[in-house]
Amino acid sequence: MLDNQRVKFDIPDDVHYFNCAYMGPLPNETVDAGIKGVRRKAHPWEIGAPDFFTQSGLARKLFAGLINAQSEDIAIIPAVSYGTAVAALNLPINASDEILVLEEEFPSNIYAWRTQAIKQGATIKTVARPDDNDWTSAVLEALDAKVKIAVLPHTHWVDGGQLNLKLLADVLHKMDCALVLDVTQSLGVVSLDVQTIKPDFLICATYKWLLGPYSLGFLYVDKKHHHGLPLEQGWVNRPGAENFSRLIDYTDTLNPDASRFDVGERSNMHLLPMAISSLEQIHAWGPAEIEKSLHAYTTQLLAGLETLGFETCHKDYRSPHYLSVIYRHGLPADLLSQLASQNIFISQRGDHLRITPHLYNNQHDSDRLLTVLSTFLKENIK
Ligand SMILES: Cc1ncc(COP(=O)(O)O)c(C=O)c1O
Repeated sequence: MLDNQRVKFDIPDDVHYFNCAYMGPLPNETVDAGIKGVRRKAHPWEIGAPDFFTQSGLARKLFAGLINAQSEDIAIIPAVSYGTAVAALNLPINASDEILVLEEEFPSNIYAWRTQAIKQGATIKTVARPDDNDWTSAVLEALDAKVKIAVLPHTHWVDGGQLNLKLLADVLHKMDCALVLDVTQSLGVVSLDVQTIKPDFLICATYKWLLGPYSLGFLYVDKKHHHGLPLEQGWVNRPGAENFSRLIDYTDTLNPDASRFDVGERSNMHLLPMAISSLEQIHAWGPAEIEKSLHAYTTQLLAGLETLGFETCHKDYRSPHYLSVIYRHGLPADLLSQLASQNIFISQRGDHLRITPHLYNNQHDSDRLLTVLSTFLKENIK
């Protein structure tokens, strides 16, 4: 298991941040890489044509390494909604078809499909939240021959419920149903191998569990879609783009790999170095080690929460990095702001408290959370 990594972050001792599912803090080295990148732009004469390709190439390689893909399978995107739009554009559906999504899915996994469904006269099929929190069985039950696209997470963003993607992917592939994954709330902590799962598209923002910058993400594209339609008609993702003196030799040919789907100005000179730095750090720790360490941390914290009367409703399906707990006697509306006034940061989704630590959280953080919650319950709940 990994040692605590707080020293690599700028988090004061008296700040207890349990909200990585909302936004991961940048490691100090990533901050330095970003500042260096911003400073480079002050000296544009030091930025040459190769720089437009080397950093994007390295970022692709590092991301590909997390999911057992190749660099050529990876596009650089600014947001999950962008990746979803690319997927929707390249997965044809007919009027009688259904697109399957989970209830309470993050909006970036809903709107593109709703638009597509309206355009084609297709239907969105929403899998209701199962009472026993077994999303995998609920999806299996909802599948039928009409479902042509399944849009799934690995970890449900609201409460950390985990899906068995291997099992689901096997069934979906047999049914000839396309699979689009958003792994923003799991990648970097929960391992995934695209050679096993074989999604058509896989999307991930970097600003949460990859501890990277905002406005940068990656899109994995299965080789069968490498000749698909990009959202934009860019110039940097075409053959010959390296030769800046001949960009006016226009070509209608796009790169024959996933880089054709890159967002315009993808060679961002501060975001890419930041993403590279964070991805290198994730690789250095190792996702499997991160997973083990966070599972141990959240398990210990859950035991403490249970002694205070909190319950988690999906022990069997919990992602290792997420705690979602309820308090049956009800919680006051201002709990989060009360905790924030003590420098304790968590989220609330419906009745559930969402507690999402990372390697910077230490024993002092969990002790403080439990102590403050305990006092708060004594004072407020009669
Ligand atoms: C599951 C999931 N996907 C995506 C996002 C972010 O989407 P976008 O990059 O389109 O803003 C979030 C943010 O909370 C999320 O939880």
